[in-house]
Amino acid sequence: MNWLPRPAEGQAWVAPSLLSADFTALKSDVDDMVAAGADLLHLDVMDGHFVPNISFGPFICKAVRQISDLPLDAHLMISHADQYLEAFAKAGVDGLTIHIEAEAEIAPTLARIVELGMKPGLSLNPDTPLESILPWLDQVELVLVMSVQPGFGGQKFNPVALDKISELQRLREAEGHNYLINVDGGINDVTGPQCRQAGADILVSGSWLFGATDRRERISLLRGPNP
Ligand code: DX5
Ligand code: ZN
Repeated sequence: MNWLPRPAEGQAWVAPSLLSADFTALKSDVDDMVAAGADLLHLDVMDGHFVPNISFGPFICKAVRQISDLPLDAHLMISHADQYLEAFAKAGVDGLTIHIEAEAEIAPTLARIVELGMKPGLSLNPDTPLESILPWLDQVELVLVMSVQPGFGGQKFNPVALDKISELQRLREAEGHNYLINVDGGINDVTGPQCRQAGADILVSGSWLFGATDRRERISLLRGPNP
């Protein structure tokens, strides 16, 4: 198990989303992101049912595990996450995030993720109110706030995420929770710092990071100033 603590005040961890990687050269693209300073890797798993797109599953996660020691955070955009938990554990994933809108029962699925030795996460779509995940905040180590409708990279950031991030930070202090606040979709040099200032601990970025000529510069811009 390879995981991250809370980032320093005013900073965020940076998680490249491999959905935007060049899969004909996955190893060199991952190596390049690691060398550029990525803190963890975000793996977007899509089933063509929960979202209208199909990406990859545990097999590719296992391959990524073999080429990097960074924490691997799998974002499951699949209807029945509960049927695949063992497969992701065996693939060597560290964090496993399920969606509140999907069909798996939330509490037993989160409990099983912990039993399998992974960090449990819960995600919500831009249209889903924060209230819907409140009952599980004490059972998760990650909350993934979607700032785009899941399914595709390269979409525009929806600012509805900013209020959710601030409220999650307030609730964590007020109620003594332990989760990291993760935000995903449309993160760039404008929206990334906005999310960090709102209280995000992890910024996921796909097209903007992979499309950069200088990835190191973009990662450090997202991470924020040294304290
Ligand atoms: C969308 C995925 C995101 C996506 C982010 O369904 O969950 O992780 O790859 O890509 P960008 O940064 O291009 O919005
Ligand atoms: Zn994602």
